[in-house]
Amino acid sequence: MIDKKSPLPIYYQIEENIKQRISNGEYQPNDMIPSERILSENYAVSRMTVRQAITNLVNEGVLYREKGRGTFIAENKIEQSLKGLTSFTEDMKTRGMTASSKLLDFEKVTASVEISRKLEIEENAEIYRLQRIRYADQKPMAIETNFLPVTMFPDLKKEDVQGSLYDYVEKNKRQKIGKASQIIEATIANEDQATLLEIPPGSAVLHIERHSFLEDGTPFEVVKSSYRADRYKFSSDITRG
Ligand code: GLP
Repeated sequence: MIDKKSPLPIYYQIEENIKQRISNGEYQPNDMIPSERILSENYAVSRMTVRQAITNLVNEGVLYREKGRGTFIAENKIEQSLKGLTSFTEDMKTRGMTASSKLLDFEKVTASVEISRKLEIEENAEIYRLQRIRYADQKPMAIETNFLPVTMFPDLKKEDVQGSLYDYVEKNKRQKIGKASQIIEATIANEDQATLLEIPPGSAVLHIERHSFLEDGTPFEVVKSSYRADRYKFSSDITRG
């Protein structure tokens, strides 16, 4: 299992071995791995070496620690392609998961300069501010705050955003959502976000800002979301032109 003569560091070989056990199904998400003492006996290496391997895997998001309980196998990250313009509901459906939401806020507010410019409405015009926790199979994945012009959706009600917002928009406007631009940044969860996302404060979070347009080019939403970085990764196909 561990080759002490190999030029590869021992902690690295342990990391690879644990990863292999995950990929062959021996370790399942949320399984507890053996204690450092047992692992050091099994691998016949020092506890310090085991600790280094485990710390690296925790930092990588492969394992997570729970104070006073132990170290566990993390859930597989959801890989989100950056290719298509899809909704959260559609993304979860594609993966055979069930999307749900908890509405934290639904109110009419006046648009800030930034939002009014993006939505191409008068400064101080009325907008909806709706904030939802998005769940996949009952587990929190993201907090999303959407800003939509009130004049565009005068009849929007709380019930309409319990399900898919994109579904509502396309039915209501009788046209498809056309395009969006998006920016992804790395951030750290503050206390509030950590509580809502059920992660320790200070965990990595992906902040995504999306500016979306209907097929006819009308901007209809600005969205600011915080996705759990331990559950999400983004992929894209790129060509060298
Ligand atoms: C994704 C996007 C959001 C968008 C949402 C709509 O999560 N990041 O910008 O508002 O999908 O999802 P749904 O139609 O499920 O409400």
